[in-house]
Amino acid sequence: MTDTEDAELLAHYLERGHEAWNVSLEAAWLDYELRAFVASKLPQGRPIAVLNVGIGVGLFDDWLCHVVGTSAAASSVTSVDRDPTICRLFALRQRRERHPHPARILCCDVRDGALGAAKFDLITVVGSTLAEGGDRGETLRALQRHVAPGGELLVAEVGQGAHGDRVRTCGDVWLACSTRAVLPPST
Ligand SMILES: C[S@@+](CC[C@H](N)C(=O)[O-])C[C@H]1O[C@@H](n2cnc3c(N)ncnc32)[C@H](O)[C@@H]1O
Repeated sequence: MTDTEDAELLAHYLERGHEAWNVSLEAAWLDYELRAFVASKLPQGRPIAVLNVGIGVGLFDDWLCHVVGTSAAASSVTSVDRDPTICRLFALRQRRERHPHPARILCCDVRDGALGAAKFDLITVVGSTLAEGGDRGETLRALQRHVAPGGELLVAEVGQGAHGDRVRTCGDVWLACSTRAVLPPST
């Protein structure tokens, strides 16, 4: 770890800590509701392979790594983001914080085919990722190809009027969660 990398991380922590939203009641509520929904959809069997699309500050990925990684050594979390700076900082931070189950980090746009033939038992797309990603249909269709038989694609979006299988509100904040089950091929 170089001094430059540590300085970058310090800047990252300071920026995160400075944002009023990050310590708000609404953000705490959202984190709880979102994580509770994802936890309820995690497959029971182990090992499992999970993919999270859109790292951002990476706190959701940290949580996912703990929940999946502590359950079974052979399980994995792959975190993907198309922004190289975000990927680099996230890798640095998990290394510096000595996360016991760090994510496999992939820097790519999930619509570009860089995931190859990889299949996952659960794919999560949460927060503003889908809205930021351009064509929603294209992103969801691309991800659907990477859901393992019996697996699920979980989408959780924030915003007034958001639709989903389960919609929760806290004042003006809406959270809409959905899963799209992919059935095993018929025999
Ligand atoms: C604002 S962050 C949200 C991160 C996290 N899901 C959360 O709610 O805290 C959205 C991230 O998704 C990434 N992203 C958006 N569309 C993407 C795509 N098609 N492929 C890979 N990354 C994408 C962006 O680069 C950005 O870092």
